[in-house]
Amino acid sequence: MSETGDSSSPVLQKIAEQDVTSTVAVAGHPLHAMTVHFPIAFVIATLGSDVFFWWSADPFWVRTGIWASGAAFIGGMAAGLIGTAELLLVPGIRARVASWTHAVAAMMLIALCGLNWGIRLADENLILPNGLLISMLAAVFTGFAGWHGGKLVFDHGVGLMISEKE
Ligand code: HEM
Repeated sequence: MSETGDSSSPVLQKIAEQDVTSTVAVAGHPLHAMTVHFPIAFVIATLGSDVFFWWSADPFWVRTGIWASGAAFIGGMAAGLIGTAELLLVPGIRARVASWTHAVAAMMLIALCGLNWGIRLADENLILPNGLLISMLAAVFTGFAGWHGGKLVFDHGVGLMISEKE
């Protein structure tokens, strides 16, 4: 038996036999894949708002930052709840370490999104520098969570729904 963890390992073979098809889907379209775009876009929009506010001091960017950070949090919660359902319901997804790496990174991202929205609602004076720094950290975690989510699909074939039609 190989010690390098290749596909000849009986443990990996057992994992490979388990189902990895997405279950939270509408008419064959996985909902997690549809919803993740919203937190990704709104986290970056929040960072953009903060950078423009820092640069211009125009309160317009305070308002866009409040809306964008709120949408990032709500979108992240929606994507996270669907992702959690996939993780817990599908045996082949739960069995993969990579799924948990993605889930932990995503949960930290959602927590940052909540913090970023909350501090702005509490006191707009906290946007510089606290909000800007949280936005930068959230952008890094978005890249980290998105990268690991993509690896689940492209490296592990998780969440694919192969149509029987040609
Ligand atoms: C509690 C939080 C989350 C869990 C447990 C989770 C779980 C999963 C799982 C199991 C997959 C594999 C595909 C599938 O089964 O649908 C996946 C894919 C993915 N996730 Fe998440 N996810 C969470 C939150 C997020 C968030 C907030 C983002 C946004 C950055 C994100 C970005 C992605 C991306 C880009 C993919 C690959 C494309 C796709 O199939 O959706 N996930 N996630």
